[in-house]
Amino acid sequence: MNYPSSVKIVEVGPRDGLQNEKVAVDVATKVELISRLTDAGLTTIEAGSFVSPKWVPQMAGSDEVFAELPSHANTTYTALTPNMKGLERAIACGVKEVAVFAAASESFSQKNINCSIAESIDRFRPVAKEALSAGLAVRGYISCVVGCPYQGAVDGEAVTQVAAQLLAMGCYEVSLGDTIGVGTPAAIETLLNGLLKDIAPEQLAIHAHDTYGQALANILRALQLGISTVDSSVAGLGGCPYAKGASGNIATEDLVYMLDGLGIHHGIDLPKLVAAGNYISQKLNRTNGSKVGIALQ
Ligand code: HMG
Ligand code: MG
Repeated sequence: MNYPSSVKIVEVGPRDGLQNEKVAVDVATKVELISRLTDAGLTTIEAGSFVSPKWVPQMAGSDEVFAELPSHANTTYTALTPNMKGLERAIACGVKEVAVFAAASESFSQKNINCSIAESIDRFRPVAKEALSAGLAVRGYISCVVGCPYQGAVDGEAVTQVAAQLLAMGCYEVSLGDTIGVGTPAAIETLLNGLLKDIAPEQLAIHAHDTYGQALANILRALQLGISTVDSSVAGLGGCPYAKGASGNIATEDLVYMLDGLGIHHGIDLPKLVAAGNYISQKLNRTNGSKVGIALQ
C-alpha cells in the first residue's frame, strides 16, 4: 500500500472545536491553548474566525486572540473569513492565511452562510482576490462532501464543481469537509476518485468529523489515495453550529498515533499535544474526546 512519506496536520481545534463548545472560552485560555499547540510542533493552526458574532458568538474574540498571539517562525495562524468584512478584520490583525468556506449542499450553504452556493462563490471571489493581492494565502473549504444534515446524500459531482471554482479563484488547497461524519472509507474513495481526475492530490485536504466513528478509517483511505494534508482537532473538540448532531473532528492525538504506527512523518511532540488536549478539556469541564489522550493520561 502506498502512503505519503509525511503528512501536514492542520490543527483546527481552536476554531472548529471551540466554535461549537457550550462553555464560553475566554481569550486568555484560547491564547494559552494555541501557544501549547505551537509548542507541540503544529505548524498550521486555525486560531479563529472573523464571522458575524451574532451567528457564532464563540468566535467573537478572534481579533483579540490574534492580537495576543506571539509571532512564531514555524507556525502559521489562520482564520475563516466569510466576506470582505471578515477579510478586513483579518488583515487588521496581521493574519497571513485565511480560508473561505463553501458547501456542496444548497441547504447547508443557506443555513451556514445565508446564501446559495453560487452566491457564496461570487462573494468569495473578491475576498480571495483582495487577500492574494495583500500577500495572504487563501484556503478553501467545502462542507457536506458526502452528506448533508438537511438534504441527505450529496453528489460527488457537486463537490468537484465547487472545488474547481475555489481553485480557480486562487485557493492553494481545498479541504474536503465531511461535516456530519457520515462518510465511510468506500464513500471517501468514490469521492476522491472523482476529484482526482481533475485535481492534484497536493491541492486537496481531508477534514473528517468523527460523528459516526469513521474519521480515522476515512483519513487512512485518503492517505492511501495520495492525500497528505489532514485537518484535526486537539482532544476531538467541537462540531458545527449549523450541523445538528455533528461531533468534533478526528482528535489530533489519535491521528498522530496512527501516523506514528504507519511510519509517516508529522513533526508533532505527542506528549506535549496530549498535555494541550488535557488542558483544554479541563477548562471546558468535559471528557477528553481523544482516545489516545485518555490512554496516555
Ligand atoms: P448575513 O446576516 O447574511 O450577513 O450573514 P450581512 O452581511 O447581512 O450582515 C449581518 C450583520 O452581521 C451585520 O451587522 C454585519 O455587519 C455583520 P448588523 O448591521 O446587523 O449589526 N457581519 C459581520 N460582523 C463581523 N464580521 C463579519 C461580518 N459579516 C457580517 N465578517 C454571514 C452572513 C456570512 C456574515 C453569516 O452567515 C456568518 O457569519 N456565518 C458564519 C457561520 C460560521 O461561522 N459557521 C461555522 C464555520 S463553517 C464550518 O464549521 C465548516 C468547516 O469546519 C468544514 C466542515 O466541517 O464542513 C469549515
Ligand atoms: Mg468542520
